[in-house]
Amino acid sequence: MKRYHVTTFGCQMNEHDSERMKGMLDSLGYAEAAAAEEADVILFNTCSIREKADSRFLAHLGHAKRLKLADPTRVVGVGGCWAQSVKDEVFERFPFVDVAFGPGQVHKLAEFLTSDSLTAQGFFEFEGFTGHLPGKRAREFQAWVQISVGCNMACSYCIVPSTRGREVSRPADELVEEVRALAADGVREVTLLGQNVNSYGRDLRPTRTSFAELLERLDAIDAIKRIRYTSPHPKDMREDVILAHAQLPSVCEHIHLPLQSGSSRILKAMRRTYTRERYLDRVALIREHVPDVAITTDIIVGFPGETEADFAQTLEVCEDVGYDSAFTFVFSPRRGTEAGALADGLVAHEEKVERMQRLVEVVQRRAAERAQRFVGRSLDVLVEGTSRTDASRLRGRSRHNKAVNFSGLAAPGEIVPVQITGATSQTLSGELSLLAAASRGR
Ligand code: SAH
Ligand code: SF4
Ligand code: F3S
Repeated sequence: MKRYHVTTFGCQMNEHDSERMKGMLDSLGYAEAAAAEEADVILFNTCSIREKADSRFLAHLGHAKRLKLADPTRVVGVGGCWAQSVKDEVFERFPFVDVAFGPGQVHKLAEFLTSDSLTAQGFFEFEGFTGHLPGKRAREFQAWVQISVGCNMACSYCIVPSTRGREVSRPADELVEEVRALAADGVREVTLLGQNVNSYGRDLRPTRTSFAELLERLDAIDAIKRIRYTSPHPKDMREDVILAHAQLPSVCEHIHLPLQSGSSRILKAMRRTYTRERYLDRVALIREHVPDVAITTDIIVGFPGETEADFAQTLEVCEDVGYDSAFTFVFSPRRGTEAGALADGLVAHEEKVERMQRLVEVVQRRAAERAQRFVGRSLDVLVEGTSRTDASRLRGRSRHNKAVNFSGLAAPGEIVPVQITGATSQTLSGELSLLAAASRGR
């Protein structure tokens, strides 16, 4: 039996696409190898969101080259956003690569592997959804669901519109069917994926379905206890979606609302299409309807032309909002993007590093403060496995998407009440509620 190995870089959409790649290879009769060294087909699902993503992947590709030299019958395949962004150049720069494909062409991998062709091939059309391919989930009780592909925004720093193409939504009926099948297969938590999930459905004909309507239809599936999604765009965060969090039992109390910058001037240069005021207005509406919600975000530091005054406004928004956590990135110029063509270095490197430190300080301090509201409460935790730092304890997630380490007995996939006794900016700790332990023991 031939064996494959997939290394995945990048976002949840790539995690999803890799699971579909694996499902497709399993259905072709391949088996998964524990390491690239043991594989006949070595695959990379790549990301190009920042320069670091590129360099991490290129280091791995060097390893694949050595394996290919040792055994030339091995197939080396490169898929995903990096592959799409350099297209056929892959073969000139890396002649040992046999097949390259973009995020819209994962299904072509099967065609390539079953053909007799030995020549290098590249597939870069935007067509179809990886969500149609068979999947192989990392955990039985959690699943990614691809609700749309592509992005119609044109954020000036971002490479994604060029690597994933225009936005296309999957029909709601098809998604409801997929989630029903997942529920029947043991899934309790789904995470809906798209580059801009809350613009979902606007392109659907003849019946448009809004994102809020989709949430309602998925919430009606009994066995699905938790619905998450990422990422929504602040410009499309309408009241109906916010109300879904307040009214639909399975829609979790967590919203990831990427800020990028707290300065309206920089937001304009980023082409984010909202202002600082409009963003804060969305946050106020969210907190009004769902007071206990966890809000998380993405922030870019050192965008070309960002002044100290602009940056101070980002800090101010972080203080005001009090994020439960935030991903912070130093601006990285990307090929083919509007901001990538601007002179980088408009913000000096040391300045970026210094701003990042100040930002992280505010983010972590506010996150730690926010987390204290959970201490003394009992939270429902979906058990994922044993704690990473202490094998005698369990680890799971609350509905707010907080990692929770706790003592007690429970099986992965169970949702159990945990009494929270401690909180840091990153994790909560606690113990299985005695009441629950007693009732489950009976
Ligand atoms: N579609 C999602 C996320 C896309 S990428 C959204 O719009 O929210 C995830 C994050 O990477 C972005 O939110 C942004 O903060 C960051 N990012 C994207 N391009 C970047 C760049 N060129 N430099 C630094 N950070 C970037
Ligand atoms: Fe990139 Fe902006 Fe689209 Fe997100 S919304 S994927 S940041 S272009
Ligand atoms: Fe990376 Fe593509 Fe995701 S560039 S972050 S893998 S959409």
